[in-house]
Amino acid sequence: MPGELSPCERLLRACRGEPVDRPPVWLMRQAGRYLPEYRRAREGLSFLELCRDVERAVEVSLQPLRLVGTEAVILFSDIFVPVVGMGVELDFRPGPVVAEPIRRREQVEALRVPDPRDSVPFVLEILRRLRRELAADEVPLLGFAGAPFTLAAYLVEGRRAKDFEAVRRLVQRDAELLRELMERLAELVTGYLRAQVEAGAQVVQLFDTWAGLLDREAYREWVLPVHQRIAKGLDRDRAPLILYVKDGAHLVDLMAESGADVVSLDWRADLGAAARAVGRRVSLQGNLDPCALAAEPARIAAAVRGLAQAGRAARGHVLNLGHGCLPDTPVEGVRAFTAAARALGPAR
Ligand code: CP3
Repeated sequence: MPGELSPCERLLRACRGEPVDRPPVWLMRQAGRYLPEYRRAREGLSFLELCRDVERAVEVSLQPLRLVGTEAVILFSDIFVPVVGMGVELDFRPGPVVAEPIRRREQVEALRVPDPRDSVPFVLEILRRLRRELAADEVPLLGFAGAPFTLAAYLVEGRRAKDFEAVRRLVQRDAELLRELMERLAELVTGYLRAQVEAGAQVVQLFDTWAGLLDREAYREWVLPVHQRIAKGLDRDRAPLILYVKDGAHLVDLMAESGADVVSLDWRADLGAAARAVGRRVSLQGNLDPCALAAEPARIAAAVRGLAQAGRAARGHVLNLGHGCLPDTPVEGVRAFTAAARALGPAR
């Protein structure tokens, strides 16, 4: 077993299934409205303006390190930021709202797949600056993108909709249109993640939040090949890939075939059962219920120890939530979560 690891080595090793002293810890949506310091930095700016403001986005990305003791930094942005460069008009209220939902072939054909260096230079600059800031303490930097199905779900529906029925109907009625839309998005996402790694991201996470709405057969036909294509387009020896699906417990063994290094579980999945289902193919990330951060610190610590224990059955384990921090997540609860993770003894 290795001695004291740097946060960067600990995360990279856990992703690759190499021995670690204890599981690394970070939180999805660790920067955001639950932090008063975030709300102050965001004052006077729309969410998209904040994403484009390099100085402030760097500041907001770094806030969780100092304020809540996380062991990794994730780029502050949103999965819809690169989609604006395709020529889609959208706004955040607070979730993404698309001005003209995509339902017709001409709309799909009109979508551009721009070079990220031209369309989102600010994202790459934020990453370069973060990497420089984090180098001294060897804190790892994560990049991310939304996956084609989840992006398509919003683009077709126009906004978050219960169970995204329009996109699920499209699977049945005009599969060709959906396929073309997903292909363009896959091209966008692959180029975007490659550029992020080039700019300094050491791990990248693909968010396919809504793919869990699909049954196994539809996932296998519609989504798995797209995940595989994206994974193949990345240099995973350079930056491991994490794949997150919300409510995806029924898909875990299929997700292990995606080419991702880590499968990120939502809070409903049983970590031990997932470890048995995926074997040595992938590491696992997760998966405390974000609402469990409202508990007393002692209860949060016990939950962390329980997760770490279950995670021993996996090839590697990254401690995280089962979904993002929520606007009313108590800051104290987040601190208790990271403190309990840091207090864990040798994991294996
Ligand atoms: O994890 C991080 O800290 C990095 C930043 C990040 C954001 N969104 C910031 C954000 C990441 C990784 C995302 C991913 C994202 N965005 C997903 C996939 C993961 C998930 O959470 O399901 C999805 C589906 C979106 C789309 C989106 N953007 C929604 C649904 C919302 C509204 C969320 C809410 O809190 O009501 C957004 C806006 C958004 N993205 C905010 C933040 C901090 C809130 C913006 C604000 O008003 O300040």
